[in-house]
Amino acid sequence: MSALDRALTIDDLKTLARRRVPRQFFDYIDSGAYTEQTYNSNEADFDRITLRQRVAVNLENRNLASTMLGQPVSMPIAIAPVGSTGMTDADGEIKAARAAEKAGIPFTLSTMAICSIEDIAENTSKPFWFQLYVMRDRAYIERLIDRARAAGCSALVLTMDLQLLGQRHKDLRNGLTAPPKFTPKFVAEMMVKPGWAFRMLGTKRHTFGNIAGHVSDAVNLASLTEWTRTQFDLTLNWKDIGWIKKRFGGPVIVKGVLDAEDAKLAIANGADAIVVSNHGGRQLDGAPSTIRVLPEIVDAVGNQTEVLVDGGIRSGQHLLKALALGAKGALVGRIMAYGLGAGGEAGVTRALDIVRKETDTTMALMGERDIRNIGLHNIYSNDLDKRQGY
Ligand code: GLV
Repeated sequence: MSALDRALTIDDLKTLARRRVPRQFFDYIDSGAYTEQTYNSNEADFDRITLRQRVAVNLENRNLASTMLGQPVSMPIAIAPVGSTGMTDADGEIKAARAAEKAGIPFTLSTMAICSIEDIAENTSKPFWFQLYVMRDRAYIERLIDRARAAGCSALVLTMDLQLLGQRHKDLRNGLTAPPKFTPKFVAEMMVKPGWAFRMLGTKRHTFGNIAGHVSDAVNLASLTEWTRTQFDLTLNWKDIGWIKKRFGGPVIVKGVLDAEDAKLAIANGADAIVVSNHGGRQLDGAPSTIRVLPEIVDAVGNQTEVLVDGGIRSGQHLLKALALGAKGALVGRIMAYGLGAGGEAGVTRALDIVRKETDTTMALMGERDIRNIGLHNIYSNDLDKRQGY
């Protein structure tokens, strides 16, 4: 039995990934901003919600399939955009996109990915989603949107919570760059992680593929912190949704909404869906967990738009709790990244299988046969009251 087959939880995959992936790239995934309060509460706050057990229900013919943005999905999960995924494992975005396609769920490619939009289009056959960061060079952003459209992307995920980068101490201490600098410490690490190094030698994709070769002054591109500081657009505002949507000509999902007023503004300015997100706890440290604010955002805009959520989801039980509180689906970043680090494409497949099985079993034990029926009746309502008293 392989180590992947023995992994029963996302946490098992995380342990495997820690062993296989060089420290600076593992830490990039497993980190939040500053004290990591928000990063930790994203996951911990799921424990405050309890599921209602119902029995003696016919559990034959269960259904996990649903829709996200009108697109059919085999379960209501999409892969979240994660920068530098191609550093977790060689050609990581291609591997994750293929695993998502096989699993019947959407894959989102980050602007700050290692593999490019065209790489993903060439190596998959279904439309994927493209996540957009808005940079000062508008001509470049327009070209990027055009490339996403030309590649057949079926949605644009516009991230609005990263005009500047939250500080993640581990990345600064590790001197994170893509490609990595060949310091003595890094070379020593290669000796104990030869599989990762060997696979990296087999690909030419070692830096940010959507950017390198597409902008004239890609100085300091290898350092994400430095690049965002100098290139990301501090003036990004709600009005920008309009021209971006027009240029793309397809649905725009606004990601990074954590406040009911912002949710209303996103919709008023043309968002086709929103992702309740605190960027996996990587931006505003001290912000609430996403599961905590989800109900008030669903109350505010849930009847006008599709509300998706990300942050802290590590199991099928977490997914069901998010659905019970009104999310139409969830985006998962770390689930994908730990699977990828643990075992490449097969690792991502394993991660998605684990979550699918957990979702199916848990849903059944809640006495539900169809994931589309999950709602407030599946959890204890006094959990919500407790949430008010945080
Ligand atoms: C980029 O999106 C990051 O969170 O590092």
